[in-house]
Amino acid sequence: MELKNTITRENLRLLMRSFYIRTLHDKELGPYFINELGNDINNEEWQAHIELLADFWLAELLGEKTYKGNIYGAHIKVPHINRASFVNWLELFSLSLDEVYTPDISNIFIEKARLLSKDFICHLNI
Ligand code: HEM
Repeated sequence: MELKNTITRENLRLLMRSFYIRTLHDKELGPYFINELGNDINNEEWQAHIELLADFWLAELLGEKTYKGNIYGAHIKVPHINRASFVNWLELFSLSLDEVYTPDISNIFIEKARLLSKDFICHLNI
């Protein structure tokens, strides 16, 4: 697949699918997502989650008014999440980014995700 050098809802869906397939297969991260959304990425809850995350990234990176959720609240209810979980999350996210986007675009995402992870660790006091 040709690497994308722009961010669109369509390619965000590709990114999310690739990333969540990785997380579902990950021994540590898989159970967090399976508990909330089930283990079938094609179910309704997963489809809604993928659209929500596309809204989120469009808002974060392109300033679109697409996301009005509560990002910190959503993670407070994820039990046992810890610093190492975020390192693991970032590694898998980076692999999927490199599969979908050119290095310049991948870097924009990963920088933002790193900052957000630091905020999470601070907010969740872990
Ligand atoms: C260890 C790392 C992480 C785990 C295990 C995790 C897990 C989850 C889970 C299970 C949900 C679904 C909650 C629900 O629907 O009830 C969720 C939602 C979400 N996550 Fe994460 N997450 C992690 C890190 C991150 C990071 C670093 C970001 C941003 C860069 C992020 C962005 C989001 C967003 C935007 C939502 C939707 C929140 C809403 O409901 O509005 N997550 N996460």
